Amino acid sequence: MSAALPATLLASINQDRLWQRHADMAAHGAIPGPRPDRAGVNRACFTAEDIAARQMLVGWATARGFEVSQDAIANLYIRRRGTESSRAPIVTGSHMDTQPRGGRFDGIYGVLAGFEVLEALEDAGIATVAPVEVVAWTNEEGGRFAPGTMGSMVFAGQKSVEAFAEVRDTSGVRFADALAATLAATPAPITRPLPGVVGGYVEAHIEQGPRLEAAGARIGVVTGIQGMRWFEVDITGETAHAGTCPVGQRRDALRSAHAVVSALYDVTRDPEDTLRFTIGRFLVDPGSPNTVPNRVHFTIDMRHPDKATLDRLADAIPATITAAVAPCTATVRVTNASAPMVFDQQVVDRVEAATKALGLPYLVMPSGAGHDAGYVARLAPAGMIFIPCERGVSHNEAEFATPQDLTNGTRVLAATLLAMAGVV
Ligand code: GLV
Ligand code: MN
Ligand code: MN
Repeated sequence: MSAALPATLLASINQDRLWQRHADMAAHGAIPGPRPDRAGVNRACFTAEDIAARQMLVGWATARGFEVSQDAIANLYIRRRGTESSRAPIVTGSHMDTQPRGGRFDGIYGVLAGFEVLEALEDAGIATVAPVEVVAWTNEEGGRFAPGTMGSMVFAGQKSVEAFAEVRDTSGVRFADALAATLAATPAPITRPLPGVVGGYVEAHIEQGPRLEAAGARIGVVTGIQGMRWFEVDITGETAHAGTCPVGQRRDALRSAHAVVSALYDVTRDPEDTLRFTIGRFLVDPGSPNTVPNRVHFTIDMRHPDKATLDRLADAIPATITAAVAPCTATVRVTNASAPMVFDQQVVDRVEAATKALGLPYLVMPSGAGHDAGYVARLAPAGMIFIPCERGVSHNEAEFATPQDLTNGTRVLAATLLAMAGVV
């Protein structure tokens, strides 16, 4: 066994405990799936379900004697002390919020894998030099309050909490109000500074795509994250009587939206199938069968690993919409933009070394999905560890990863964190 992989630590990683914690967390926001053993989770940011999950995590952490704290955007920290308390913590984690029809692994796996490492360190009696921390980042998904990755963005100093105060969900709830309620309901002191302090960061996550499974690989050593641009589009026309107003005289927002969406699909067609282009929300007002719609609101999520290609295609979006929208009008707003990023090579090498030492087959690969690690990487050396998920399915109730793969990823995480934090 290499020095990076103490046998006592590996032996203390407890697959049954890790699996049970996933089941316990999945109770908060449980929704039916295609089969009883493929049930999903709907746990949007700052809902009662999200708050219950936060309280459960704080309860587990406190029971093990770990320190809990929050910052002003409700990122939740669990710290196991190091021998040098002045050292910046080595941090792991992910998010606990889900998509509306999400699964039991996207996000929460990274939090629970990190927590399992803290428990295993404790069980094995291993002291680290730097503190090791697990963070549950606020609002990674962005399904309720847009954009996503708000918690890690604020942690990294890219935005202030105030910048998001007036963001509202589709029922009009202000982000600032939901945040205040969540902070008050979570039994952890609000003591952490923003921007945050971090010595290094590693996040474990399911792959959310099909590559690892197809290759028979058990671990993805992640090299970086592709770039992303989000838009919100509002098309405005005029309501009219569906039975009387001649079609030629209408300013029908849905008819214009249809033309706009067709033009967007045409302009973003990619023969290589590398560009990811998604219209995931489409709302029609006033939503009455016998009234011509006066307003359509929709979202665009587009991603590409190459910055120049992403910029060229994303920059063409507003003009494409304007050219197709007559006789209605459109406003287009960018709500999220991140350039493709590359993880620190030393962290990537450490993840690869730990994977090799464990004898696990692996792929070296970029991430298609966005992750909090992309923002934390702006403050400190960062990287990620992927494990396969069944058929690559994610953002879907049927999302599934095996207990063995959860454990493999946690072992690689433990070894990597230990190498970064230093063993006494
Ligand atoms: C996060 O889930 C993303 O949209 O990539
Ligand atoms: Mn995720
Ligand atoms: Mn997700």
